[in-house]
Order: sequence, then structure tokens, then C-alpha cells
Amino acid sequence: MTSTTTGTHAGVSFDLDSLHAGIVDPEMDSMRILSETAMRFPDALSFSSGAPYDGNYDLADLPLHLDRYIKHLRDRGIPEQRITRTVFQYGPVNGFIQDEVARMLKQDEDIDVPAEAIMITHGFQEAALVALRGLFASPDDVLLSVSPAYVGIRGAARMLDIPIQGITEGPDGLDPEEVAAAARALRAEGKRAVALYVNPDFSNPGGTVLPLEARRRLLEVAAEEDFIILEDNPYGLFARDGETMPTLKSLDTERRVAYLGSFAKSAFPGARLGYLVADQPVTDSTGTTRTLAQTLSKAKAMYSVGSSSLSQAVIGGFLVDNDYDLRSATRQLAAVYLERLDVLLAALAETFPAERHAEHGVSWNSPRGGFFVTLQVGFVADLAGMEVSARDFGVSWAPMSMFHIGGGGDREIRLGFTNLAPEAIREGVTRLARYIAATPRD
Ligand SMILES: Cc1ncc(COP(=O)(O)O)c(C=O)c1O
Repeated sequence: MTSTTTGTHAGVSFDLDSLHAGIVDPEMDSMRILSETAMRFPDALSFSSGAPYDGNYDLADLPLHLDRYIKHLRDRGIPEQRITRTVFQYGPVNGFIQDEVARMLKQDEDIDVPAEAIMITHGFQEAALVALRGLFASPDDVLLSVSPAYVGIRGAARMLDIPIQGITEGPDGLDPEEVAAAARALRAEGKRAVALYVNPDFSNPGGTVLPLEARRRLLEVAAEEDFIILEDNPYGLFARDGETMPTLKSLDTERRVAYLGSFAKSAFPGARLGYLVADQPVTDSTGTTRTLAQTLSKAKAMYSVGSSSLSQAVIGGFLVDNDYDLRSATRQLAAVYLERLDVLLAALAETFPAERHAEHGVSWNSPRGGFFVTLQVGFVADLAGMEVSARDFGVSWAPMSMFHIGGGGDREIRLGFTNLAPEAIREGVTRLARYIAATPRD
């Protein structure tokens, strides 16, 4: 910090480098850049973000959900004054819609946990911060993570000074044996893999789905190497009929998994609501045992005091309205996403026919669902390139290198298609092809 007493800018100023490493690191800006790209380039078609389809949001639904929740409390015989307090006052740190979330988890994911094992959070992001803050106690504790990964997990670790090590996923997601080897290698260095972050259903950004056998083996590896799995699952609901996979948490018989949920895609991201399922018992020095979710409320209290009561009431009403069955409630939305995925894959195939892939220098993956497709290109596709593409060619995307932990993905771009109508997707691919054709291969 510097203090100046002369000149037009008298007063305190900072060198950026004097601030916390998480603020200095340019990589930590990726979340903001991705969410603001569409605003910075309003004329460009945006494949940059994973924003959900917003065509069926209806302002009229908000008071309906709120009323529904209030009615739900009245039906349960809760006195009027307490209902008023629930919505207007500070509330319990871990939230007040855990019963409803527990019912939803049982219904949608066959996850059977008591309400005490659930903490309602400010989105996935706070669930990650709270879980990491509680689990990582020593500088030698390392977070293993699938790579490439959602930027929120690397950012959360960085903000908390927790070392993170990426394990590169293949077309079928993480290889459990590679996870085991990474955990063992850390132990040989005197460090400890405390947890593994994984996004087994339609990973962001890779679009992979972890096969059932690998899920079972990953749970065994977690037990053998003694780490907790942090399972992030915002996209599993949107699988094709008959292709839904059991979550790791539903297969977990030893409480090896903490499950991090989000209502951003199943309801709407503006609610900023998610949850942490942590059913592991924690015993203190007096012999009192509480769940990990209850114990971590100390961290939650200091991050955000509690999650928005208003958002909880609206999402609570949304759950009640849908009979706690978000899988059924999101069938139409899933059909929209799957159609858009098919449109994007067809547009890519038409624009870049297989016999000319080498000439164009492009190829891509074909995920079965999720929000993202990855395109390989014949040049370094970084943020500067994305800006050229958005400004001069009218189409934006996300550099895959933003999601890699420890380097990689330099010649790959992520295409998020869920909030673009089919015609816009086709037009976006046409524009992308022009950008690719105009960019020299290196
Ligand atoms: C893998 C993954 N996890 C979590 C989230 C969202 O979390 P939040 O509830 O903080 O919006 C996203 C959103 O893009 C995501 O892709």
C-alpha cells in the first residue's frame, strides 16, 4: 500500500502485486470474462457461456413459487408469525429448505440423506468454498481435480491458498487408476490428497460421462487412498431418457462423497442457490457428534451469514410445486438442450465435412448431453483470438486453456450452446468457420 499526499490522485493506492495471489493471478478472471463476454460484444452470437436457456423464465412464476412455499408452511401448521419471520428475518445458517431438498435428492438421485446432512448455500460456488475451507487444514493437503474443470473449483482453491493438482480426463472421464497413482505420488512426497473434485455427468467443459464401472472403482480408490470425493452434478438431470447414470453419492455406502448441488440449471441461476450434502459424522472433544454439514456451518456463517431467505422460499416453492421431482420438471428443458446439441453437431458436420477435417484443421467431440462441445482447431485459441472472433466475425466462444489445470487445451475452444436458438447456432457455426478460415494455422 502506498500513500501519496501530492498530485491529483492523492490518497491510498495499491500495486496489484501487493494483493492476495488469488486476486493478482490473471487466470482468476476467467469467470468474469466468460460471463461478461456476451455483454461486451452484444452483436456477437455467444458460445462463450454455459448460461441456461432463458426462453421459459416467467416473472409471474416468482410470486407463485413464493406463495406456494408459504402455503406449504401453513399446511404444516406453522404459525403465521413464524412464517413471516422465516421469509423476512435472518434465518438458520444452514438454511430452512433442507427437508425439501432431501426429498428432491431421494426422488431424483436416489440419494438418501437426512436434512441435517444438507447445508443450503449461495450456489455451488459457496458449497465448494465451505467444503474446501473445512477439509483442508494443513499446507501439505492437496486438492486433486479432474482437468479440464469448471473454473469455479480452481478459483475456490486458489482463493483459499489450497494447492490443486489436475488429472487429465480422457473421453470417458477420469481414469480411477490415475487418481490412485496421483494420491500415492503425493504421499511419497510427504503430502496428502485430501479430496478429489469430479463432475461425472456431462463434465464442464469436456462433456464426458464417467462409466458405471469407473464410478464404482473411483469409490474404492477413495477408500484405499483415504480421500473425500467432491461430486459436482449440475447437468446430470438433462440426460437422454434411459441414459441416466447413478451419482457417486447414490453408490456411496461409506460416506466417501460430499455432493455439491446447484439450482442454477434445474431452476434458475439468479436464485444463486445450491447445497452441500455432507453426511459424515464429526465428533468433538466432548464426544458430541454432528454431521459435517452442521459442523461446517461455522465457515458458512463467516462467508455469508446464511443463504437468502427469499431465494430459499422461492426455490422451496418450486420444489413443492414440482412434487420434489426435478427430473420430470426439467424434461421439456432437457429436450430443448438435446435438440440444440444435435443442431450444433449437425451444423459442425455440415460446415466441416469429414473429408476436409485435415484441411480445416478441425475436429470435435460428440457428447451425449450436457452444455458444451469441444472443438480442436489448428491454431492457438486464446482470449485475444476470442476477442478477434467476437469483434470481427460476430461469434464468441471460450478458450479451453482457461479450464485446464497445469496447462493444456491451447488449440481447443469450448462451445456453450444452451442459450442459443437452433438458427442462431447454425449462423454461429457459419461465422466460426469464417473466423477459422481467416486464422493462420501454426
Ligand atoms: C460444473 C459446474 N458446477 C457448478 C456450476 C454452477 O454453480 P453455481 O451454483 O455457483 O452457479 C456450473 C455452472 O456453470 C458448472 O458448470
